[in-house]
Amino acid sequence: MCGIVGYLGDQEAYPILIKGLHRLEYRGYDSAGVSMINAKGDLSVYKEKGKVSALEESVKEKDVTGTIGIAHTRWATHGEPNATNAHPHYSQSKNLALVHNGIIENYKVLRTQLEKHGKTFQSETDTEVLVQLIEYMQEKHQTDLYTAVQRALTHVIGAYAIAVLDQRHPDVLIAARKSSPLIIGVGQNNNNAHGHAEFFVGSDATPIIEYTNQVVYLKDEEIAYMDRDGNLRITNLANVEQTPDMQTLQMNLDELEKGGFPHFMLKEIYEQPNALRNCIRGRLSIDTKDVILSGVLDNRRRFIDANRIIICACGTSWHSALIGKYFIEEAAQIPVEVEYASEFRYRNPVITSNDIVVAVSQSGETADTLAAIQLAKSKGAFVYGICNVIGSSIARATDSGTYLHVGPEIGVASTKAFTGQVITLIMLGLTIAKEKKTLSKEMFEMLVDELLQIPDKIQWTLDNNKDIEKFSQIFTYAKNFIYLGRGYNYPVALEGALKLKEISYIHAEGYPAAEMKHGPIALVDEEMPVVVIAPKKGMYEKVVSNIQEIKARKGKIISVVTEGDTTVKGVSDFCFTIPDTRDCYVPLLAVIPLQLMSYYVAIAKGRNVDQPRNLAKSVTVE
Ligand code: F6R
Repeated sequence: MCGIVGYLGDQEAYPILIKGLHRLEYRGYDSAGVSMINAKGDLSVYKEKGKVSALEESVKEKDVTGTIGIAHTRWATHGEPNATNAHPHYSQSKNLALVHNGIIENYKVLRTQLEKHGKTFQSETDTEVLVQLIEYMQEKHQTDLYTAVQRALTHVIGAYAIAVLDQRHPDVLIAARKSSPLIIGVGQNNNNAHGHAEFFVGSDATPIIEYTNQVVYLKDEEIAYMDRDGNLRITNLANVEQTPDMQTLQMNLDELEKGGFPHFMLKEIYEQPNALRNCIRGRLSIDTKDVILSGVLDNRRRFIDANRIIICACGTSWHSALIGKYFIEEAAQIPVEVEYASEFRYRNPVITSNDIVVAVSQSGETADTLAAIQLAKSKGAFVYGICNVIGSSIARATDSGTYLHVGPEIGVASTKAFTGQVITLIMLGLTIAKEKKTLSKEMFEMLVDELLQIPDKIQWTLDNNKDIEKFSQIFTYAKNFIYLGRGYNYPVALEGALKLKEISYIHAEGYPAAEMKHGPIALVDEEMPVVVIAPKKGMYEKVVSNIQEIKARKGKIISVVTEGDTTVKGVSDFCFTIPDTRDCYVPLLAVIPLQLMSYYVAIAKGRNVDQPRNLAKSVTVE
C-alpha cells in the first residue's frame, strides 16, 4: 500500500501535502515524510516514525516553505518501520528526493550493481534503490531528470508509483506508475492565460478533489512531466508520447476515501484480486513455477527437521489456519495441529525444540496469540509469524515470518486478510513440500500455476454473483443460519457463519456437513436457511446427499457450486457460482459469496458493518 501526494504550483506545498497524507492514512501509517524545495532552492526531507501527526509534531520548528513538494505515508514492505526507512529518500548527492508505493522485486540485484558503482545506501528499502538508480542514470548519460527516470524504470521489475523532485529543477515534478495507482490533478486555471498552473499527484483522488476535479489516471508504465508553465507531458517507457486522458471526477470526498464503496468492508471484499496479487508478488514465479518464501528458506533446516507444526490463532485467523493445516499435511506430509491461542496459552502443551509454532494474525497485536508465542518460545520452539501489519508486536516477537502484503484492513470483519492468510499458508506448505521433496515436480508446478490464477478467479466470482444483494434481503427474517462444508470447505463454513454473526447479529453455526445428522439436523425446519458449500470436487456426491437430508426437512438451501453444475443448483433455493479450481483452493473462491451475503444481509438489517457492536479490530486484551 502506502500513500503518495505531490504538489507544484503557487500555493505553499506543505499544508496541501499534510492534508493529503491524512486522507491517505488508510493506506498505511507506520511512518510518514515530506520533501519540499524552498525559495532558495534547497531540497529538504523530513521523516518520522508513526502517523502523520507525529511528522507534523516533528517539523514544527523546521523550514517547511516551498511551492513544490512530495509526501508519503508508509505501509512498510522492505525494512522495519522507522524514520530511516520512511520516504522520501534522498539520492546520494541529495539532489533528488523520491517517494514510492509498490515493491521493487529485483532491488537486491540493482543495489549490488549500484554499490559497485560507488553508491552507498542509508536504508534497507527497495525504494532507495530507485532514487539512486535515477541519479546514476543522470550521471552516466548526462540526461535530464525525465529521461533518467525513464531509463531507470526500464531496469526495474515490480510495482511502483513514484514522484520525484530535483533541487536543480524546482519548477518540475515527475511521476510514474506501474501496477500501483497514481492520479494527476490538473489545476482549474492551467489553461487560462491569467491563471497559475498547478498540478497535484495522489495515490487516489482524495488529496486532490478539493482543489480540482480534472484528473488524469496514469496508466501502467507511463511517466508524467509537469511544470509551472502548465505543461503536462506523458510518455511510456519507450518514450512514445501518450495523450493525457483528462477525466472529470464526480465523487465526493467521503465516497473517494472508500474508493467509491459505501463501506470499507465492501471495498476490501472487492479489493481481494489485487490484494492477493500483491500477496504473491515476488513469492510465486510465473516463469520458474517456483515459490520463494525467504522466511522459510533462511531457516531451511528447521523446517525440514521439524517434528510437527502447531498453528496458533484466533477468530477468522483460526479458520485460515485450519485450511493451512489441511494443505500443509497433504502437501508436505508433516503433522499440523491448530490451536485457539487463548486455550493454548493456558494449557501446559507438550512442545519440543523440534516443533515449529506458526502464529497467524492480521493485526499482529492479538494478546492471546502473542502470549501463545511467548509460551512456545519459552519451551524452545521456533516461532514463525504470518501477519498483515508490518512491525506489529507479533511480527517482532517471532523468529521469522511472512507478511501478507494485502494492505491495511479497516473494516472490523476480516475479509482480504483471510484470503491473504490462506494463500500465505499455502505458499508455506508448498515451500516446505519442495524442501522435503514430498510432491512430484509436475504436481508442484501445477499447484503453483493454479495458485497464480486465483486472483483472476476471485474477480470472476465477484463479477458473476451480482444478484447476492437482491436475494440477501429475503433472509433478514432469519434468526438462525447453518453453514455446511466438508474437507477444505468445513473451515469456510465456519468463516461464513462468523462473518454473518459479527455484522448482522444473526446467530449462525458452521458444521462439517456429515455431522448434521448427529444433532444439528433437529434445528432444520422451513424457516432455517442452510448454506452448503458444494463444489464439484472430492466429496461432492456425499454433500449432495447431505443437501437431500435437509431438503427432506424443508430447510432453505443456499449453495455455492462450481460453474456449470446443475445437480445442486436444481435442489437449491438460491445458488452462488464459482469457477472450477483444485480442491485445496476452493476456500479462496467459496468464501467470496459468503462475505458478500453477510455484508448485504447486515446492510438490509441496518447494521453498522464497518464497526459492529462490541467488536474491535485489534483485540489487545484477553
Ligand atoms: C473476524 C475477525 C476476528 C479476528 C480475530 C483475530 O472477522 O476479524 O475474528 O480474526 O480477532 O485477529 P487477528 O487476526 O488480528 O489476530
